[in-house]
Amino acid sequence: MVVPLTDDIYWVGVVDWALKHFHGHELSTHRGSSYNAYLILDEKKVLVDAVWTPFEQEFMAQVRELIDPAELDYVVANHSEVDHAGALPALMREATNAELLVSEKGLESFPGNYHADWKMRAVANGETLNIGKRDLVFIEARMLHWPDSMFTYVTGDNILMPNDAFGQHYATAGRFNDEVDQHELNHEALKYYVNIVSPYSNIVTKKIDEILAMGVPVDMIAPSHGVIWRENPLQIVEMYQEWAAQKTEPRAVIIYDTMWNATARMAQAIGDGLSDEGVDHKLLQMSVTDRNDALVDVFNARTVIAGTPTFNNGMIANMAPIIEELKGLRLKNRLGATFGSYGWSGGGAKVLHERLAEAKFRMIGEPLEVQWQPDADALQRCREFGREIAVATKAG
Ligand code: FEO
Repeated sequence: MVVPLTDDIYWVGVVDWALKHFHGHELSTHRGSSYNAYLILDEKKVLVDAVWTPFEQEFMAQVRELIDPAELDYVVANHSEVDHAGALPALMREATNAELLVSEKGLESFPGNYHADWKMRAVANGETLNIGKRDLVFIEARMLHWPDSMFTYVTGDNILMPNDAFGQHYATAGRFNDEVDQHELNHEALKYYVNIVSPYSNIVTKKIDEILAMGVPVDMIAPSHGVIWRENPLQIVEMYQEWAAQKTEPRAVIIYDTMWNATARMAQAIGDGLSDEGVDHKLLQMSVTDRNDALVDVFNARTVIAGTPTFNNGMIANMAPIIEELKGLRLKNRLGATFGSYGWSGGGAKVLHERLAEAKFRMIGEPLEVQWQPDADALQRCREFGREIAVATKAG
């Protein structure tokens, strides 16, 4: 269903209610997603972004409701990934008079991904294009979240179209932030930030400063996933600034897995030690916990305590994905600690310790390993370790 944003500017995207995994199976999307595209009907006719390939027919039908695609003068493609540009081949077959505008890095990624002979040119950072009553201003946004990403700003209506930035994987009936459940919206915006944007926190801060320094009014922020920020649109910018700063609260999360419950019992005893010192925490058993959800809890915690039984001289396989992800996310200002049980020979907790140290966690103490099932003494040592971790967590 086509939805107007203002006079002459329309949402022509699609809502994907059934999407439960994204990027293959790399990212869970429990609440679906949307692929947002925007049509601007000024003296020049402009489409900003498209949708994912499986929805190309639905998308084209919406565009045709408003305009004959052959009348399009420009198609702005802010980013080449298929969830936004996958429908371009179908669109460009009909948009025979349109020039495709991309970022400079887009001159590499669009031909590489689509192998099509489109009339295409790169716009420069800060370049302005008059389309009648309005101008479009293009802002390079490298690594937010790909090298070819850019933002498009529409003057007059004061709408920023930042593609992936400020988005959420969140399928909704309402198109605007004031029409949806605020708790769900904030959770999905944070999950999106943590899993997709947080490795580039420094770039986020610089880009936001750059845009704010332009002093342009922003009445709407219309990303390419999820709802459009219409009510208090800068709230998502402020949230990104806060998240990018990665100031942590004295909370902990215990991520672990277990084979015969020994490591689980150690986790509970360490948790008791944290509680003794009044440090809030969660226990997440990774074989039954969604990794992307767990990363949100990790992001919200100052201290990550990782536990594993020793298996084949290393960590149990269920721990490997989140530990690998922690390396890639490059979190700042974090503390770490590790523990685990073993039968005949140990070493799993030591491997975890090394991995967290490589991921720039400041490690508390040495890995705590217990042979066989923990007895009362061993559980007491775990509880004391929990207290030691709590003290370090509160100190920051
Ligand atoms: Fe980078 Fe939504 O694609």
